[in-house]
Amino acid sequence: MHAEAKKLRLGVLISGGGTNLQSILNAIELGELDAQVAVVISNRGDAYGLERARLAGVPAVFLDPKGYATLIDYNHALRETLDEHGVEAVIMAGYMRLLGREVLEAFPSRVLNIHPALLPSFPGASGVADAWKAGVKVTGVTVHFADEKFDEGPIIAQEVVRIEEDDTVAMVEARIHSVEHRIYPAAIQLLAQDRIRVEGRRVRVLPRGDA
Ligand code: GRF
Repeated sequence: MHAEAKKLRLGVLISGGGTNLQSILNAIELGELDAQVAVVISNRGDAYGLERARLAGVPAVFLDPKGYATLIDYNHALRETLDEHGVEAVIMAGYMRLLGREVLEAFPSRVLNIHPALLPSFPGASGVADAWKAGVKVTGVTVHFADEKFDEGPIIAQEVVRIEEDDTVAMVEARIHSVEHRIYPAAIQLLAQDRIRVEGRRVRVLPRGDA
C-alpha cells in the first residue's frame, strides 16, 4: 500500500456564493489538487459558500464582524480559527474584507487571492464591470499573493479573457468565472507542490520535479 501523500491544509475565506471554493473542492475530489480544505470561514452568515462547505463535510465557520470592536481584533480571531484547524495556507475566495498583518505575518507567501481582472488594472470590488465600462478589449483573471492592500502583491498567474463588442457585463462575468474555476485550483496546486518562488514582485514557477 502506498503511503498517502501529505495534503496541504487550506483555510478558505469567503464572503459570498463560493463558486471558487466549489472549484477547489471539486479539484481535490478529482485528485487534481493535493490539498484538503481544513476550514471555510465567512464574514457573512448568509454566504452560500458556508453551505457548500457543510455539504462537502468541511468545518464552516461564520465569524461575525459585529462581535469584534476593531478590524485588528477580527483578524486576530481569524488567525486563531485558522490555527485551530491546522491551516497551512490561506485562500481568499471572494473574501471582501481587508486581511491584516495579524494573519499575513503568520502565513508568509502562503495567502492567495483571486481577482476578476488583469491586475494592476481594475482593482476593487467591481473589476469586471469596471473593465467593461472602460471599453478595454481584453481583461482576465489574476491569482496573486495577498498583502495588506486590496488586490496587490506578487502575481502568480494571469489569464486573458477577451471582451467582444456585443458582450454584456454578465457575459464577460460568466467567462471570467469559468477561467477562475480552472486557474485558481491550478495555482494552489503549485503551492501544494512547493513550486512557487517569490523574487521581489516577481514570481517564478519551478518546473515539476525541481522543487
Ligand atoms: C470572484 O469573481 C473573485 O474573483 C472575486 O470575488 C468573486 C467570488 O465569487 N474576488 P465566488 O464567491 O467564488 O463565486
